[in-house]
Amino acid sequence: MSLADFRNEYDKFDLPEHLLTADPKELFSQWVDEAIRLHAPEPTAMSLSTVAPDGQPSSRIVLLKGFDESGVLFYTNYDSKKGQDLAHNPKACLLFFWPTLQRQIRLEGTVHKAPTPLSAEYFHSRPLASRISALASPQSQPTTRVALEQRSDEIATQYGEHPPYPENWGGYYLAPHHVEFWQGRTCRLHDRFSYTLHNSQWQIQRLAP
Ligand SMILES: Cc1cc2nc3c(=O)[nH]c(=O)nc-3n(C[C@H](O)[C@H](O)[C@H](O)COP(=O)(O)O)c2cc1C
Repeated sequence: MSLADFRNEYDKFDLPEHLLTADPKELFSQWVDEAIRLHAPEPTAMSLSTVAPDGQPSSRIVLLKGFDESGVLFYTNYDSKKGQDLAHNPKACLLFFWPTLQRQIRLEGTVHKAPTPLSAEYFHSRPLASRISALASPQSQPTTRVALEQRSDEIATQYGEHPPYPENWGGYYLAPHHVEFWQGRTCRLHDRFSYTLHNSQWQIQRLAP
């Protein structure tokens, strides 16, 4: 089959107006809950797009670790490429795609670092191997497999079960000012609604698919 002939029918759900919530956080919460409950693969995986100082965008997957009034939370290495991009330009975009639910959510906004005590608390809740690799991996830097494994062994030997919280690792909140929900529908007449923050009020619009 040629790629041009590859297509899918989107017919599982709809998103009628009466299911829209006044605050997009509520609908976001419902869709994340449904993705988990209906066993969507990697339900908390989201694509994070940042922009480099030269204007070049880049995207990568990170994991959703919470959301509240501060925004949508993920954890990473602050010295990584994404961390450097965000230090220069805190505007970013998160994108969820749950293929089995035929749903997409885009969140555009501004990113700020989570408070260090929160990041440290989350760091200490992670499995030991994850804590060691957060310390051992100079994320986004060129390396070798041997160097990574050696560094990981050194940290395990040095700290045993108690690797310390690394200050260059932690959470970011993306506080959205624009959120869009996309629900696949039949005949490509998908349901799309955008929420835009104006003077602290969310304004909702249906968008053409
Ligand atoms: C399923 C999945 C989950 C991931 N979760 C994270 C995460 O939560 N945090 C993170 O820093 N990188 C995560 N990564 C790795 C990133 O996609 C990326 O490779 C890494 O953060 C380096 O990105 P950068 O060099 O653009 O900064 C994940 C990758 C995949 C495929």
